Amino acid sequence: MSDHGTPFAITAAPSGPLTGTAQVPGDKSISHRALILGALAVGETRITGLLEGQDVLDTAEAMRAFGATVTRHGPGDWSVHGVGVGGFAEPDRVIDCGNSGTGVRLIMGAMATSPITATFTGDASLNRRPMGRVTGPLALFGARAHGRAGGRLPMTLVGAADPVPVRYALPVPSAQVKSAVLLAGLNAPGETVVIEREATRDHTERMLTGFGASLRTEETEEGRAIILTGQPELRAQSVAVPRDPSSAAFPVCAALIVPGSDITVPGVSRNPTRDGLYTTLSEMGADIAFLNPRSEGGEPVADLRVRHSPGLHGVETPAERAAAMIDEFPVLAALAAFARGQTVMRGVRELRVKESDRIDAMARGLEACGVRVAETEDTLTVQGMGAGGVSGGAMLASRLDHRIAMAFLVLGLAARAPVTVDDGTPIATSFPGFETLMTGLGAQIARVRA
Ligand code: S3P
Repeated sequence: MSDHGTPFAITAAPSGPLTGTAQVPGDKSISHRALILGALAVGETRITGLLEGQDVLDTAEAMRAFGATVTRHGPGDWSVHGVGVGGFAEPDRVIDCGNSGTGVRLIMGAMATSPITATFTGDASLNRRPMGRVTGPLALFGARAHGRAGGRLPMTLVGAADPVPVRYALPVPSAQVKSAVLLAGLNAPGETVVIEREATRDHTERMLTGFGASLRTEETEEGRAIILTGQPELRAQSVAVPRDPSSAAFPVCAALIVPGSDITVPGVSRNPTRDGLYTTLSEMGADIAFLNPRSEGGEPVADLRVRHSPGLHGVETPAERAAAMIDEFPVLAALAAFARGQTVMRGVRELRVKESDRIDAMARGLEACGVRVAETEDTLTVQGMGAGGVSGGAMLASRLDHRIAMAFLVLGLAARAPVTVDDGTPIATSFPGFETLMTGLGAQIARVRA
């Protein structure tokens, strides 16, 4: 089992205005996909702006184990010499995906239709998460999975020697499952079809097209069908990774609730399948301007100018928006505590199977900070206390979950008393440099001396 290094507690204290420019790291979803598709392409894929978070570094290491040559040339500047579709070698070691559900699920898909066997593991968080949602559809291609009870890691996947194409309707809105099926479909003859009722992030589809795969969509009664023609030759590409809107969410929400703040967050992806938080914040009365809209690396991006917004009010986020903001609910819950009136988040049951049960983690943490919350299996409601109304002053558990840790630290910046998170190590999975970036803006965030 992998770990995250020596745990350290970290405190966020009430802060003066946050000001300046926040250069947030590259998009995590796109970074994983660039490495995996680079490994499946012929030739050298060059990647700039790659997120060098632990999740992505674990995927890079996995691609090496499957035979690709992955090289770091400088900060965010990487190359991948691919082995071609169907060219994965059998790894001679266990594939450790650390904390990353995206990493393990996409890599399982990518190897499931090659005649090789690989064993996957992760940290305590990942080894609790359900893998049946990918091994189910991968079995339809002919792959066989042998894992722990409940479809948990560690798990061995035996790839299909004679894969058949698959038609699969997603039972849960999950870009990871969609992507695993599409990546498996690459090495199956004929057409593989994935059908999704609710749109989930579409980076795999965009990038597959960019690498030369033939992919089309059709509206059907079951939902949107994504149809991939198998056994293409993927051609190496240059991939410019835009900055991660999910990481941007932390300085953005912090600036909205810390009085006097005015920050700029340049080059953030505005992919519509990732934009739900920003729609919600606008509805809540947030002062955010989207400047210089443009296209970078096949994704729409903009520079965000964010100013303190004392008039934030609670809203309802509809279930159909949940997939487009699935990773942003922890920080939205923190921000909602400072709004007037209640914020109701609907259709969020998937949060229960993330790096932690994020509904439970946020509910318990907010309660400890003096905020009233209510939850059902599928909703989280936060009773806004208004600006200055959150007491804070608590020690909270990050539960091996980077977004829980960062959401509580954002909360601490505007609460009446400091908030301490018991373990800040998970932050490095998605947002290395978080502390430096936030303190550079003026945030009072510091590690607690042992
Ligand atoms: C991701 C999909 C989402 C998201 C995760 C990244 C991806 O997970 O929560 O952080 O890159 O495909 P699900 O597919 O489980 O919704």
